[in-house]
Amino acid sequence: MALVSATEMINKAHAGHYAVGAFNINNMEWTKAILLAAEEAKSPVMLGVSEGAGKYMCGFKNVVAMVREIHDFLGITVPVALHLDHGTYDGAKACIEAGFTSVMFDGSHYPFEENLEKSKEMIALAHAKGCSIECEVGGIGGEEDGVTSMGELADPKECETIAGLGVDFLAAGIGNIHGKYPTDWKGLNFDRLGEIQNITNGKPLVLHGGSGIPADQIAKAISLGVSKINVNTELQLEFAAATRKYIEAGKDQEGKGYDPRKLLKPGADAIQAKVVAMMEQFGSAGKA
Ligand code: 13P
Repeated sequence: MALVSATEMINKAHAGHYAVGAFNINNMEWTKAILLAAEEAKSPVMLGVSEGAGKYMCGFKNVVAMVREIHDFLGITVPVALHLDHGTYDGAKACIEAGFTSVMFDGSHYPFEENLEKSKEMIALAHAKGCSIECEVGGIGGEEDGVTSMGELADPKECETIAGLGVDFLAAGIGNIHGKYPTDWKGLNFDRLGEIQNITNGKPLVLHGGSGIPADQIAKAISLGVSKINVNTELQLEFAAATRKYIEAGKDQEGKGYDPRKLLKPGADAIQAKVVAMMEQFGSAGKA
């Protein structure tokens, strides 16, 4: 099966009360590990690419080519969407052209009227190419790829307006934060989440900052209409910890332990195991 738009997998998740993970990729190891995890868990999956990671991987066209080839080489049979994460106006356009099957247009930093105008235009462009699209209302807290936002609660009225444009899924700030959660974090705002779900008539919602949220809060968010959960930091921490362990145990000094295929293996295996566990937690395992 070729890469697919995320519309069907997210709608099914919403109807079935589970969530699909959107896991950020950085390179070949990340891509391979996440695709192998999805196949192992028999789960649909979204591969998220930030604009910074796109640049690191030598451009959106290269990302599309690399993901398609790895996907086909591994013989992946579960539904896979290649998704732009927090796209700018120009970035989202470029990804729709380059062959991404899903994009996020993040206009949350614009005045609302401008976010609305640009979201409308981008929804039409994406849909003309069979690409699914996510838009955002209300900033997500924390820092990602150098972009810092304070995190705010999305205005339900604004969510209703953007949902009415025909966006496929909607990211709305509910107290979530990118990166590690601070110890004094107040948790997700379920009242606001419920309000947004009601006023948007059951539009599938996206939970950004999926790393480190307690399991009971994840479960409750899914029960209130969250159908896509973004995870980035958690996999970076897993990779770093496994790699550190390998080196601190002196494994890179034994035999040909310095061979990159050996050196990067514990980290890649750790990513794969973590993604399988998260797919089980989000309820998407076995749903492909
Ligand atoms: P974390 O890095 O906190 O998991 O957030 C990922 C994310 O929301 C990507 O958009």
